[in-house]
Amino acid sequence: MLNTNHSRRRGGPRRGLPPQLARAGLLGVGAALLTGCGSQQLLSIGDLSSAYNREMFWMSVWAIAFSIVIFIGVSYALFYTVRKFREDRNDAEPEQFHGNNRLETILVVVPVLIVMLLSVLTVRTMARLNPTPQNAVKVDVLGKQFWWNFGYPAAPAAAGGNVTNGNELVIPTRSPVALTITSGDVIHAFWAPNLGGQRDATPGTHKTWQIDTDRAGAYQGNCNVLCGASHANMRFKVIALDPEQYNTFLQAAQAYRAPEPAPGSAEARGYTLFMQGNPATGALACAACHRVQGTPAAGAAGPDLSFFGTRRTLGAGMWEGERAQEMLHGWIKHSPALKPGSLMPAYDGQEYRLNGKVQKAGLLTDAEIDDIAAYLRSLRLPEEANYWRDVPVTSQNASAQGGNP
Ligand code: CUA
Repeated sequence: MLNTNHSRRRGGPRRGLPPQLARAGLLGVGAALLTGCGSQQLLSIGDLSSAYNREMFWMSVWAIAFSIVIFIGVSYALFYTVRKFREDRNDAEPEQFHGNNRLETILVVVPVLIVMLLSVLTVRTMARLNPTPQNAVKVDVLGKQFWWNFGYPAAPAAAGGNVTNGNELVIPTRSPVALTITSGDVIHAFWAPNLGGQRDATPGTHKTWQIDTDRAGAYQGNCNVLCGASHANMRFKVIALDPEQYNTFLQAAQAYRAPEPAPGSAEARGYTLFMQGNPATGALACAACHRVQGTPAAGAAGPDLSFFGTRRTLGAGMWEGERAQEMLHGWIKHSPALKPGSLMPAYDGQEYRLNGKVQKAGLLTDAEIDDIAAYLRSLRLPEEANYWRDVPVTSQNASAQGGNP
């Protein structure tokens, strides 16, 4: 669904392999097209732009080739035996060979060798993938019901804290990215198949994982452990930029402070509502749950909104592009109705059910919601740091994925 039309940059080591084969990939048998649109490589563990996937691919090639040899050998022995020793009417009882030490030794030693060989292949691949290189870009991944935060522990922000982005992870190409993955509630799993494997996000633990790619573009990710009502709506994007562009992004993100709205503007009204809510109508402040870098908003119960205006997705990847713009008003107004299990309070003054309990929503007028939306849209990185800039909007990623909430 995404980014398949890029010119392929062939950076890292690569062995000759017809791209069709690579894509169809022996591994790609499970090539997991999550949303069922089969024409493009959306989620593919057969994407050999990733060193991780290449290792897995070649290990599988060897394992499968070896299995084919065994299969042919066993089949040959079987047919040979059946043919050669088939019953003949005149035969007396066939020769018995119980207690044949040589045969029994062979039958034990050969399978042990086979298992050892496959183990060596596996252990070798694990050893190559596990150590995290010193030069890796470090990212802290936090999964919660039902969204992601991606923090850069080595990139402190001038305004305080570290650079953090919600639901959109920006990485450089041609560099290993070392993830430290955890969860704030239940077990989730970080899964961006084109970039290499998956890893559980488990509360109370910090698991390491590594992803990488040679090819710039946007990649789809998804939570991959059933974690509640909106498990399937717990998506994210990984945007891989050329190293220079990535540095531009990171420096701008570190220097970023949310723009100060002009007095009297919609953004200024939105800013006030965002920070304070409306106590008179019971509307809770957005800032209680969300962080915006360079403002007093430092909430951690919801995704970071510092670069919200730069982001292309809404609701942890439920909508993209134009559709995300259209949905923003409704999303602020009544998120739990659009996304089952969403913990964001509603603002339409109605009663609603949240986790089985009846809640009374605070009230914001449509005009007030539009003011908040205007404020959120103003939270933009400078254009040179807009990480979506060179990612083409295809008809597919402009259209709704989750248009059916
Ligand atoms: Cu989080 Cu499934």
